[in-house]
Amino acid sequence: MAAANRQAIGVDIGGTGIKAGVVDLVEGRLITDRIKVATPPGAEPKDVLAAVTQVLETLEVADSDLPLGVAFPAIVKGGRTMSAANVSDRWVGFAAEKFFEQGLGRDITFANDADVAGVAEQRYGAAKGVDGMVVLTTLGTGIGTALVYNGILVPNTELGHIQRANHGGDAETYAAFSAKERHGLSYEKWARRLQWYYNYVEFLLSPDLFVVGGGVSKHSERFLPLLSLRAPIVPAVHRNNAGIIGAAALAAD
Ligand code: BGC
Repeated sequence: MAAANRQAIGVDIGGTGIKAGVVDLVEGRLITDRIKVATPPGAEPKDVLAAVTQVLETLEVADSDLPLGVAFPAIVKGGRTMSAANVSDRWVGFAAEKFFEQGLGRDITFANDADVAGVAEQRYGAAKGVDGMVVLTTLGTGIGTALVYNGILVPNTELGHIQRANHGGDAETYAAFSAKERHGLSYEKWARRLQWYYNYVEFLLSPDLFVVGGGVSKHSERFLPLLSLRAPIVPAVHRNNAGIIGAAALAAD
């Protein structure tokens, strides 16, 4: 890998926080501190752009020539955000990639947040070298999903929005980490909701491996052993940094 391609910047925009760092792409790890700011209330485009600008300035990479990858919690098609589950409705059908490029004054690579976490775990983490179907889920404000089949990402799967029969509503409203927090659920009670969710996804896709990311994956020993599935279910090696690492990796491709 040429020297210029060995590093890239990753920005992971989530429903709750915006995180960024500079990534060593040979080793797939952060080589700076992780900078984090809160996602602005309402997550309107101009406020999110201002927050991204702020994290890049804090990282001292605002003028850097390194490739920059930006991940966002929505369906991303042709540079447009096509959904808005935990952000302002203004993002629906919005030319987000162009908006960030104009606002930041540089080219970026733009993709879904869970998809880039899937890329990070496939290249540098728990899904590396795994044949067959890997389903990565991020448990955070929502539930993000990435489908990786024989090392190839199938983007924009959105399995956090499967519906709960007889109850209505999205799976993520019931089983994301935010639901645990909102309802003050113990890990045991939350795990029952996760059991329902992963059973459903396992029925739909028969994966060979589940990988679980998001901030709560650092406490995976509190809930993953409570789940019973046919496929192994393991924490993301890069935990909550997978989005930053994967966004950077895609930007350098
Ligand atoms: C969004 C997904 C996103 C996930 C995790 C969901 O609400 O629809 O696009 O990947 O949250 O942020």
